[in-house]
Amino acid sequence: MQWNAEMYQNKHLFVAKYGEQLLEFVNREADQTILDLGCGTGALTRELAAGGARVIGLDSSESMVEKARENEPELEFYVGDAAALPWEDRFDTIFSNAVFHWIPDQRKLIRSVKKALKKGGALVCEFGAAGNIQAIQEAFSAEMKARGMVYHSPFFFPETGEYRRLLEEEGMSVRRILEYDRPTPLSDGEKGLRNWVVQFFTEDLGRFSQEERERILRAMEEVLRSRLWNGDEWVADYRRIQAVAVKEQ
Ligand SMILES: C[S@@+](CC[C@H](N)C(=O)[O-])C[C@H]1O[C@@H](n2cnc3c(N)ncnc32)[C@H](O)[C@@H]1O
Repeated sequence: MQWNAEMYQNKHLFVAKYGEQLLEFVNREADQTILDLGCGTGALTRELAAGGARVIGLDSSESMVEKARENEPELEFYVGDAAALPWEDRFDTIFSNAVFHWIPDQRKLIRSVKKALKKGGALVCEFGAAGNIQAIQEAFSAEMKARGMVYHSPFFFPETGEYRRLLEEEGMSVRRILEYDRPTPLSDGEKGLRNWVVQFFTEDLGRFSQEERERILRAMEEVLRSRLWNGDEWVADYRRIQAVAVKEQ
């Protein structure tokens, strides 16, 4: 999908903020080599580099990489696909926050990650778990249906059992895996939900005229208000999965 890096940076940087919790599983000392996979605008790439480790950021979106280079000119960023990494036995850690659910071929992704890791290296990742944004997707799907269309979720939101199996079948040893509810306040008050929908459902919304988009957004706000509006802000129904898995051989 097309990423609007400017909007991501201005409205959705809470995504990276939550990703900071994952940093505790990463050795960031100076002798480490780390890949920030799906680095977005580089906020966590900077954190990963703070301990002196050699860090590379990679993202499939040119606009994200452009923004990351602008934000962190001293760091190294590349445009590329996480499921087709060009490196072999290169990284001590591959870190990834809020990316894997966008990638349909998970086996290809895990193989690509495994190949790029050194022996003994670790994948440290977090992304959407089963049930993530269920209310938002249902409301969007209902709006599509009302217009004679079918919404196909582009996301991969697994349960822990399913993801553990995938990692193990691809030869990774799982050290930690868990899923949890993480109700997530959206910034910008009343506009929070529509900002989120415009950023993350951009392609589906792009099929409609400006007026029709406005009707969809208003209808979603109305339907979701009783569940996701707390009086001050929208709180998205996020559920996350966190995994640490090691390449033993
Ligand atoms: C929600 S953003 C998260 C960015 C960053 N990790 C953070 O925490 O702010 C998801 C990112 O995944 C990237 N992405 C999606 N599919 C990808 C792929 N196949 N390979 C590399 N990056 C991908 C997107 O371009 C986007 O920058």
